[in-house]
Amino acid sequence: MHSNSTMIENRTVTTLEYGRFFLPGPTEVRPETLAAMTQPVIGHRSEEIQALMGSLQPELRHLFGTERPVYVSTSSATGMMEAAITNLSRKRALCLVCGAFSGRFHAIAEATGRPADRLSVEWGEANLPEDLRAVLAADPGRYDLVTVVHSETSTGTLNPVREIAAVVAEFDDILLAVDTVSSMAGAPLRMDEWGLDYVLTGAQKALAMPPGLALAAASERALARATEIENRGFYFDLLKFEKSMDRLMTPNTPAVSLMFGLRSQMEHIVEEGLEERWRRHQQMADHTHLWVARLAGETGRHFEIVAAPGYRSPTVTAVRLPDPEEMGGPEVVRRLRERGYAIASGYGKLKQETIRIGHMGEHTMAQLEDLLEELGKVLIT
Ligand SMILES: Cc1ncc(COP(=O)(O)O)c(C=O)c1O
Repeated sequence: MHSNSTMIENRTVTTLEYGRFFLPGPTEVRPETLAAMTQPVIGHRSEEIQALMGSLQPELRHLFGTERPVYVSTSSATGMMEAAITNLSRKRALCLVCGAFSGRFHAIAEATGRPADRLSVEWGEANLPEDLRAVLAADPGRYDLVTVVHSETSTGTLNPVREIAAVVAEFDDILLAVDTVSSMAGAPLRMDEWGLDYVLTGAQKALAMPPGLALAAASERALARATEIENRGFYFDLLKFEKSMDRLMTPNTPAVSLMFGLRSQMEHIVEEGLEERWRRHQQMADHTHLWVARLAGETGRHFEIVAAPGYRSPTVTAVRLPDPEEMGGPEVVRRLRERGYAIASGYGKLKQETIRIGHMGEHTMAQLEDLLEELGKVLIT
């Protein structure tokens, strides 16, 4: 038995045995973190919540590499992506796009009626600093915000955010907003040192929390920009988040149970060591890349990593299938599930052609090796 089943109103919810859930988010949650969430609920305007938020701050700031407060948002990460668009651009945003999630920043701009352009590369390629420099230099003053996704989860691409930030810094009055949803806690990122103005993440990826919380931090410069914008929206108003942090609170009622879970999870991450956690993720990615190369070599079939060499995410690998008409992404996922493992099919337009392995969060090399062995059996049949 590799799963547990629960009957709910004639439907069966089947959960997998621990160590077998390799989605690129949400990812597996430690039993200790789940247990921490069963503590009695506390008031969101109480001394207890201040103590909880206060105890989270040093660790969250260390995680982000910032001295700024880290906001806790009861929403999925998309909410804090929306905050970037509605709080940080008063003129026009330039969205660096290399896959589905980076494209979402532009979609949000369209949905909220904010002017924005896309600077796109093929899915699997990275957004390069020199391309950005060329566009910004061609029309100085056109843009006041650049958005980028650090780890593009639809392709497994890792963008060179540090170099991109250096290019943005060459121009006056342009902020940089970075989505670190699938990189935070799995790939090196230092907000202050790299000069990032706004960093957001979700808690259900390499942080290994259940879904439901997003985290974000804004530079002083970013907050100053927000004060110049009147219609920042209501729920995702960064000035409200900042003001609430003076009292170690959130603007509205937060998911306090998830915050208890985050408390436990952050203690665990500190215990592992952030750099060690980055190293473990890189090791899992390297192992997966070698496995794909070996699979291609041994079968003589065209298994290929989607992300370009040199720009591969330590947390997620997308693999192009040799014959997606014969056996596409969803079918591989289905067959592997029968063997008691979960991975994801491709995302968006790559759904059929690719599969995605989320080697992120709490997974160990031993668990990954077991997964790849089973996946190999599915792919070779
Ligand atoms: C890079 C990236 N950005 C944004 C999102 C959206 O996150 P959420 O579903 O938490 O809103 C995801 C989700 O997979 C993601 O991978």
